[in-house]
Amino acid sequence: MATPVILDCDPGHDDAFAIWLAAGDPGIDLRAVTTVGGNGRLAHTTYNARVVCSVAGVTSVPVAAGADRPLRRTLTTAESIHGANALGGPELPEPTVAADPRDAAVLIRDTLDAATEQVTIVATGPLTNIALFVRIYPDRLSKIQRIVWLGGSTGRGNVTPYAEFNAWVDPEAVAVVLGCGVPFTMIGLNVTHQALVTPQVLGRIEAIGNRTAAFGVELLHFYNSTYETDQGMPDGPLHDPIAVALVARPELVTTVRTRLDVELLGTETAGATSVDLIDKLGRPANADVATGLDVDGFWDLLEAALRELR
Ligand code: BDR
Ligand code: CA
Repeated sequence: MATPVILDCDPGHDDAFAIWLAAGDPGIDLRAVTTVGGNGRLAHTTYNARVVCSVAGVTSVPVAAGADRPLRRTLTTAESIHGANALGGPELPEPTVAADPRDAAVLIRDTLDAATEQVTIVATGPLTNIALFVRIYPDRLSKIQRIVWLGGSTGRGNVTPYAEFNAWVDPEAVAVVLGCGVPFTMIGLNVTHQALVTPQVLGRIEAIGNRTAAFGVELLHFYNSTYETDQGMPDGPLHDPIAVALVARPELVTTVRTRLDVELLGTETAGATSVDLIDKLGRPANADVATGLDVDGFWDLLEAALRELR
């Protein structure tokens, strides 16, 4: 049976592939998409989610906007990677998918209430929407199977030396979600930097030959060029769909049960995730943290899903 999923995201080039993987993979039953300010301002990430769904013919999944800023901090976007509209590269077609009028937290609530089984939340942006949901609807948390988050790192960061972007934008939200008691899985840069968009990967996606793949290739050319300029990586890492892959095919991602905390106060390290892999702190484990990826299996899964779309 396919796993019911709500995808909370901030498209974003790699978020687009997360949406497409969730929509195209038979192991995932995508019930809702919610958007958050992150890679771009909320108006852009919401518009982009509608575009991404429209391009792929994903027309029956509601798309609702959530938080336009972090819980306590000022929103900083990732323009240097994703461009001024957060989805730089291709000309964006007018979306045929409308925005759902509900707030993201309300759509999440309604989706959970309508489900007969528990639902998995996959989050591929700052955790603001999920933290707000935790605060507003604590009585609904038992309907969440688990939260799988693309963010953080067991090692170095990408927006500061120690902070990964999604964690750095809203570390307070990470702390709220970590403390809410719902099983939590983190997939960080230590793993996502293995999924590089090489010329070979680009060739595979281009060879699919459908509209979604063609649009995706345009996205990836832009993404690789900004990753080269901004991060010195000419083959950019396609982070976000790995969180969906973990739900669709858990055997693709190795995880360890460990202690995870997030730095809220550090003058140089705010937003850093502290992963106690060697149990030096003696605190109870509170998360599953990804440590490995079957890279070939991941690309196979993504290619197969893209082939299912139009
Ligand atoms: C994360 O930051 C964003 O720019 C990407 O979409 C991904 O979610 C990687 O650090
Ligand atoms: Ca993202």
